Amino acid sequence: MKIDILTTFPEMLDPVINSSIARIASEKGLVSIHPLDIRTFSENKHGKTDDYPFGGGDGMVMTPQPVFSAMRHCLNKKAETKPRIIFPTPDGKLFDQSVAVEFSKESHLIFLCGHYKGVDQRIRDIWVTDEISIGDYVLTGGEIAALVIVDAVIRLIPGVIGTLNSALSDSFSHPLLDCPWYTRPEIFEDLKVPDVLVSGHHANIEKWRNDQRVKKTKDRRPDLYKKWLEEQKED
Ligand code: 6GU
Repeated sequence: MKIDILTTFPEMLDPVINSSIARIASEKGLVSIHPLDIRTFSENKHGKTDDYPFGGGDGMVMTPQPVFSAMRHCLNKKAETKPRIIFPTPDGKLFDQSVAVEFSKESHLIFLCGHYKGVDQRIRDIWVTDEISIGDYVLTGGEIAALVIVDAVIRLIPGVIGTLNSALSDSFSHPLLDCPWYTRPEIFEDLKVPDVLVSGHHANIEKWRNDQRVKKTKDRRPDLYKKWLEEQKED
């Protein structure tokens, strides 16, 4: 998978791309991630990428020319399939695990990092295929949201995570939230691991884990709990 990230703050992306799951996936040759500085595509002699909004208003708007040029640079003429062009924005469709799964099947993703109200609408109309929000709060720019999406997507690419199992058994590919996990030592500063987990009784362990998942979900995510209850009734 090829991932291009168009931004005016390329240095923001480097620490995450050069560590974490992104680096592992790159080293395995499963993804290549390219931060691209939109400024370098500007035909303006000062490398300007934004201008005042028509009709007035606060803030600056990203101007079409550098983004149109950068998009044309990213397109692979020989490719059989069109890339998904993702614009992270708080007014987008809500990102969730099913969207991550959908993106993970693509061969080319292009992210355009802009600022809310800050991108000329013609860029969105002509280039963007997916406007995505990562939650109901406002970030200053699209870079952190793009990195969140990239992380969630590349860990789903076959071969990126050692055991396919650990990606599949996460909360959210499950209808319930995850249960608590413990490791050695059995007693740490008077804090003891639940007896059932050291009992060796596998049926009881599975029951305990499932009870914990149900309890946590009911408590924290009544929306998911209700959905799960309804699915139980159908089976
Ligand atoms: Cl995707 N972008 C920005 N700028 N803010 C956000 C967001 C995205 N999702 C939630 N808030």
